[in-house]
Amino acid sequence: MAKPKVFVTRIIPDKGLDIVKEFCEANIWPGELPPPRDVLLEGVKGVDGILSLLTSKIDAEVMDIAGPQLKVISNYAVGFDNIDIPAATQRGIPVGNTPGVLTDTTADFAFALLMAAARRVVEGDKYTRAGKWQTWGPKLLLGPDVHGATLGLVGFGRIGKAMAKRASGFDMKVLYYDPIIKDDPDAAALGAQSADLDTVLSQSDFISVHTPLTPDTRHLINATALAKMRPEAIVINTARGPVVDHDALYEALKSGQIAYAALDVTDPEPIPLDSPLLTLDNIIIAPHIASASVATRDKMAEMAAANLLAGLKGEPLPTCVNPELYK
Ligand code: GLV
Ligand code: GLV
Repeated sequence: MAKPKVFVTRIIPDKGLDIVKEFCEANIWPGELPPPRDVLLEGVKGVDGILSLLTSKIDAEVMDIAGPQLKVISNYAVGFDNIDIPAATQRGIPVGNTPGVLTDTTADFAFALLMAAARRVVEGDKYTRAGKWQTWGPKLLLGPDVHGATLGLVGFGRIGKAMAKRASGFDMKVLYYDPIIKDDPDAAALGAQSADLDTVLSQSDFISVHTPLTPDTRHLINATALAKMRPEAIVINTARGPVVDHDALYEALKSGQIAYAALDVTDPEPIPLDSPLLTLDNIIIAPHIASASVATRDKMAEMAAANLLAGLKGEPLPTCVNPELYK
């Protein structure tokens, strides 16, 4: 029997790629950068499956050019805002993602950003390298305490909850606002209190964003939201760049309306080198690496391969974002 044809939009870890290569006739884009749109459109023609990364937009055009035999789209990410889900559902194509395995790894990184921003780790490193360290300074690079502070979580899904768990080890007070679930049954055990968005914004020392990107969460952290925050507030975003309005963030950081920001995701990605945000000292910007641990990226690759193969066989995907297809 001929092997199913798949297009893989980037090289993923061998743990998953080897499985894909074994069972499929795989056309794997070898570039370090995402395939240009025309290469993507050419590559998907006639395939049975697509293994995509969050850096490729998989919309109705891609699905239609692929053709009616397209059986599955497997995204190597937990987020799936790069894929037009309604278009996939309409065409009967299941879409897979990689939830769960990256939860703790991502929360570890969000907490690392929180601490690095509060305690000015990145500024300290730059200061040392610039030869400015002359003596121990009573007022050198002071920041707020992390322990005992209030952490406000915007989004209380798996990663938000993993943040609450970490915060409890630092004796932090944890408030959460979730756009969908108001009173989460897990909250009490995690020591987190439900609050409305305004309360979370106005009472937190740290505001960490953990919502998916949807039309409702785009620019959720805008000028109005930033204006409600305290001047000591530190904003952390490891979710998706467009949840935070970058122009408003720049103004708030520049004017001292809030103290600091730490972003792992930007809008767009990569952040343009002429972005005004890069002129500020009170911001840390990482290149979308929150899930980047060796073990987690391997597990994501295995899950993405498992979703792809299940879809090719016509079996339900182990982790499917449009399971209504199976009803
Ligand atoms: C990374 O951002 C992901 O969605 O997995
Ligand atoms: C991660 O697994 C999340 O969706 O919260």
